[in-house]
Amino acid sequence: MRIVIGSDHGGYQLKEEIKLFFDENHIDYLDVGTYSNESVDYPDYALKIGNSLLKDHFDFGIAICGTGIGISIAMNKIKGIRAALVYDENTARLAKEHNQANVLAFGGRTHNIEQVKKMIKVYMDSNFEERHINRINKISNIEKE
Ligand code: RB5
Repeated sequence: MRIVIGSDHGGYQLKEEIKLFFDENHIDYLDVGTYSNESVDYPDYALKIGNSLLKDHFDFGIAICGTGIGISIAMNKIKGIRAALVYDENTARLAKEHNQANVLAFGGRTHNIEQVKKMIKVYMDSNFEERHINRINKISNIEKE
């Protein structure tokens, strides 16, 4: 399992906490930044996460800004990305089972690490349900228009 993770300054602290969780659980990841609390623009990090995920074949991505809203909006502009701003274990599970989300978005100012660890675990333990493939294909068709 290989994960690409990135954030703006609003998500930096939470990103560092998630990395500790990955280290403790021997989960492989690439951190594409940002690397400090200095103010940056979240669309730049959405692009870095998306490019790595799609070109370097990571299993999924984690995108964090202050609320998770801006970075998820930006990520969903990238062809092939389905980013889900999840807020509990149920939405994390459904993001995989129904939406085949390949990016989880979190808010550094709205989520805490204990919630986030549970959401990442349940997402990783869930599987896409093939009965939803027609809807995923329709999303892909929108990208072609
Ligand atoms: C940056 O201050 C903040 O706007 C950003 O992290 C994010 O919350 C936007 O959606």
